[in-house]
Amino acid sequence: MTEKLWGGRFAAATDALVEQFTASIAVDQRLFREDIQASIAHARMLARVGVLTEVEASAIVHGLRRIEEEIAAGSLPFTDRLEDIHMHVESRLIELIGDVGKKLHTGRSRNDQVATDMRLYVRSAIDRLRALLYDLQWVLVDLASREADTILPGLTHLQVAQPITFGHHCMAYVEMFRRDSDRLADARRRVNVLPLGAAALAGTTFPIDRWDVARQLGFDHLAENSLDAVSDRDFLLEVAADLGILAVHLSRLAEELVYWMSTNVAFIDLPDAFCTGSSIMPQKKNPDVAELIRGKSGKVMGQLVALLILMKAQALAYNRDNQEDKAIFFTAVDEVEMSLALLVRMLPGLQTRPERMRAAALEGFATATDLADYLVRRGVPFRDAHAVVGRAVRLAQERGVGLEQLSLADLEAISPAIDATALEVLSLEGSVAARNHLGGTAPAQVRAAIARARQRLEQE
Ligand code: ARG
Repeated sequence: MTEKLWGGRFAAATDALVEQFTASIAVDQRLFREDIQASIAHARMLARVGVLTEVEASAIVHGLRRIEEEIAAGSLPFTDRLEDIHMHVESRLIELIGDVGKKLHTGRSRNDQVATDMRLYVRSAIDRLRALLYDLQWVLVDLASREADTILPGLTHLQVAQPITFGHHCMAYVEMFRRDSDRLADARRRVNVLPLGAAALAGTTFPIDRWDVARQLGFDHLAENSLDAVSDRDFLLEVAADLGILAVHLSRLAEELVYWMSTNVAFIDLPDAFCTGSSIMPQKKNPDVAELIRGKSGKVMGQLVALLILMKAQALAYNRDNQEDKAIFFTAVDEVEMSLALLVRMLPGLQTRPERMRAAALEGFATATDLADYLVRRGVPFRDAHAVVGRAVRLAQERGVGLEQLSLADLEAISPAIDATALEVLSLEGSVAARNHLGGTAPAQVRAAIARARQRLEQE
């Protein structure tokens, strides 16, 4: 006969392949602490409202604590026959403390139990991710501070556009990761809602005190509809979307690291400890960590789509489909967490090669806009100035020189508005220093942005 905790109405044993197919223990075992924490809160509440005696509740709590230690030590064997983490904990409890253990599930279902476990898990995952985003912002701010004056060719269309500073570029990522962190903090408010009490879908006949459980578990609100409580997974969708956006940012940074380290670009060097070699080419030092961050970012985005598809068109309330949410969500969290942790360790060792960046900035007529702005200050309408400088660029290109290498006579021939003072605006340093307003790339502004970021981070 069947030994399932739900086996009463079954005459025959479960098919072995069905057990394998329906089991989730391989994935949801990582929820054991949350599951036990929520069960302890539930048992205590049941005693407070008189459904359990104090003696029964404390036997349950002690048993659960012991199971937590067993699982942490790896001494509780897992089996597909017991489906998921909830059944493993409950059946071990009954094994340890006998019939009293059978009372734990009073007024509760695995449906509200698993939703509660996941919310507890997501809450702490958000806290871990935000701590990493915090560290990453610090690392980038420190790098920006070190490289506040370092000229980097700013690109659009991957073509040299205007000179910027490496520090300014780092601070752009600080802005992105700050918003990622804020988004997660915002989602956390909606995650931190207690589903327990919804039972299977309709609530329970026992006089439960849901606020008591919420307080024990640190939830700020109660789910206000039992059907929604057990079937909603939009708290996962929302966080997965936040992770997808974060992964976009990670992928862009990773791509830039790869590009900057490319042999023919060689703007930076990454530390040996974060690069790998080639099995055949002895000279190689490859930025594999950055490449994998770029690669895994796609996987994270894919998890968001997988979750959306999993949830779409599910009739209320709980469906077993939802069990699949965990593998999907855990993958997204794991990949982002690892990527963030690696960047936090790798980026402090990034070495810039200022002479390479400078040379590249000089090559692409990066100060052409500065010359046009100069002409505007001398009364030439911008659109005309644009055309004049375009001609100067063409001349410089024909001669194979930079704009600043054209003679004054050449420049004056192109426009009478040009005189010797034009040469100053053609320098890279002059160009960046001139963009001196909030948000601009002038080193003074980068330093101000760094100071603001440090102050904000210190207050977080
Ligand atoms: N393991 C399931 C999940 O993760 C919870 C079990 C609910 N099962 C059920 N037949 N109602 O969603």
